[in-house]
Amino acid sequence: MPLNITVLPASTQAGRETIRALLANKDPPNIQAIYRDTSKAPSDFTSHDNFKAVKGDVSADTGLDFSDSDAVFYIPPPTYDGTDSTEHGTNMANNIKAALQKSSKVKRLLILSAMGAQHDKGIGMLSINHVTDKILEGSVAEVVMVKPGFFMESWASSLETVEAEEPYYESFITPEDHKLVMVSLDDVGKVCAEQLLNTGNSLPSNPHSFNLLGPQGYSAVDIQAVLEEVTGKKPKIKLIQPEKLSEFFGQHVPEQYATEMAEMTAACLPGGLIAPEMEKEDGSVRGSTELVDVLRKAAAGEKRERSGAL
Ligand SMILES: NC(=O)c1ccc[n+]([C@@H]2O[C@H](COP(=O)([O-])OP(=O)(O)OC[C@H]3O[C@@H](n4cnc5c(N)ncnc54)[C@H](OP(=O)(O)O)[C@@H]3O)[C@@H](O)[C@H]2O)c1
Repeated sequence: MPLNITVLPASTQAGRETIRALLANKDPPNIQAIYRDTSKAPSDFTSHDNFKAVKGDVSADTGLDFSDSDAVFYIPPPTYDGTDSTEHGTNMANNIKAALQKSSKVKRLLILSAMGAQHDKGIGMLSINHVTDKILEGSVAEVVMVKPGFFMESWASSLETVEAEEPYYESFITPEDHKLVMVSLDDVGKVCAEQLLNTGNSLPSNPHSFNLLGPQGYSAVDIQAVLEEVTGKKPKIKLIQPEKLSEFFGQHVPEQYATEMAEMTAACLPGGLIAPEMEKEDGSVRGSTELVDVLRKAAAGEKRERSGAL
């Protein structure tokens, strides 16, 4: 009998890639994917017999039915609606816990966490992961927490600025030769799928938590070289110094979250609270995808979109 696995929110980056990896397995499990808006489920998922999109919202506590699930993958989503991040994370984790308590079938809970999530302060937005891990540890027989590095795909937006008349890209990784731990979403999906398919097999500890890294770290200078390799253009690096991080993130998210993002980023840079544990090899899992492959794929996707092929 195939396993029944619930993924929520299924529209998260990690949720989407894990579903992709599960469906590509030779014996795919049955997947219940919870979306706030089920029309966002990709057609290559909805066309698969083992995939079912279900409407649900983890913060509003709707549609969280795990009664037929052997395993649940929960990715705590961030919010930008003005709610305090710790409060938002606590509310969602309590909703997940209550839904798990209503189901006696769930054996394994996989949580997407983050390096540094064990700290109760000084980690900015990762407070969502801190409260999630605390509230959900011990909630079912097998709890696994995967702590990935920075998602490599985040640099895909730099492909646009490299197209500017004077090519440039913005990097918050300082100093410019400091290598930050990163991992591709493809590797995140594969490792999370493997953890879910291992439901019922014993864990080295409970909860079992491990860092997920890519094959190597990348500095601002390394990213510049990769962008040049992919596009043929050498961008100037606009380095965002630590004291300018809040202002930088403030261009993309409301001020309250920009401050949290700045604190989280500074904690990952040399001298920061999380930095020492980021390179920890002990018990870590390494993916194999390099940044150049991720950005080549993103660039090819952009080209196809521009030519109207998508
Ligand atoms: N990004 C990284 O580099 C990274 C690295 C390590 C760990 N993490 C962890 O990964 C987790 C996800 O972070 P992310 O920034 O990468 O987010 P993300 O995967 O981009 O997820 C955001 C999506 O979640 C969905 N969502 C939000 N609130 C929801 C709700 N109440 N109910 C249902 N769906 C909801 C939204 O999709 P719709 O609008 O389509 O509903 C939204 O697009 C966080 O816990 C983060 O700490 C991230």
